[in-house]
Amino acid sequence: MGQFQVDLSVPSAARMYDWLLDGTFNYEADRAACQELLKRAPTTKALARNNRWFLERVVHTLADKYGVRRFLDFGSGLPTQNNVHQVAQSVAPDARVVYVDNDPVVLGHGRSLLDANANTAMVAGDMRDPNSVFITPEVRRLFTDVHSVGTPKAALFISVLHCIKDVDDPAGIVHQVISRLSPGDYVVICHLVSDDRNLRESVTDLMRRETHDKWGRVREQHEVEALFEGLQVLSPGLVDVTDWRPDSELRQHQRSIEWYDYGGLAQIPFPKAVSP
Ligand SMILES: C[S@@+](CC[C@H](N)C(=O)[O-])C[C@H]1O[C@@H](n2cnc3c(N)ncnc32)[C@H](O)[C@@H]1O
Repeated sequence: MGQFQVDLSVPSAARMYDWLLDGTFNYEADRAACQELLKRAPTTKALARNNRWFLERVVHTLADKYGVRRFLDFGSGLPTQNNVHQVAQSVAPDARVVYVDNDPVVLGHGRSLLDANANTAMVAGDMRDPNSVFITPEVRRLFTDVHSVGTPKAALFISVLHCIKDVDDPAGIVHQVISRLSPGDYVVICHLVSDDRNLRESVTDLMRRETHDKWGRVREQHEVEALFEGLQVLSPGLVDVTDWRPDSELRQHQRSIEWYDYGGLAQIPFPKAVSP
């Protein structure tokens, strides 16, 4: 099967995540795989919700507090409530968002949602080759256009790098993207981790088997910390995303127990001045 063809009898990470969020863009195979996942990690629905609420908070913070007006969202997932462009444009109607995903169902639904929004686009792209994403017309028009110089930008890797195998070098992907951004721009990374080795192995095995090996692995906190090498991590640091600038007076978070998304927000540092 070609890269962007769909086989609905094989579960996909995007459609499983949609089911965990009570979405409607999923099929029998996705739902059955989620039931298997819940046997190993029963609190995974809370995990998915907490990640989504983190996405909303971090995008709102980037647009509101840091003035970000261009977002490049790798592994954007299926449309749900409060998508990146809706959160960013609620702060700044001129905010631009390019979504990148390689799941054909995501691409179809994403495009129909975005058709009417001139400041957003959906790219059929594989984040394992970031350079091919940066040369797409959508990224050139909305993200790296001439007016983008001096405009704060952000690259988002929200709950996606665990889909990438070690052999495809998640850290290398992040660094290729950083090399296309400017000092002062922002990077968001969160990643599925567990402190329990048995859980890490059991969920990784399940996801690889169910997706026909289209998945990476559950990693450890220190491996996620290494993805931030060379970046300046901003307050509150790298945390279970449930604890990232929480707005718990508005929403009661139920914590996931077996595993969680871990990460945070970072800035590309400005070069140090060289003394004469
Ligand atoms: C768990 S979802 C996360 C969605 C969204 N970022 C969020 O946090 O709500 C992971 C997404 O990454 C996408 N994905 C996985 N591997 C990818 C790749 N190599 N290139 C582009 N997208 C990928 C999947 O199709 C899926 O939509």
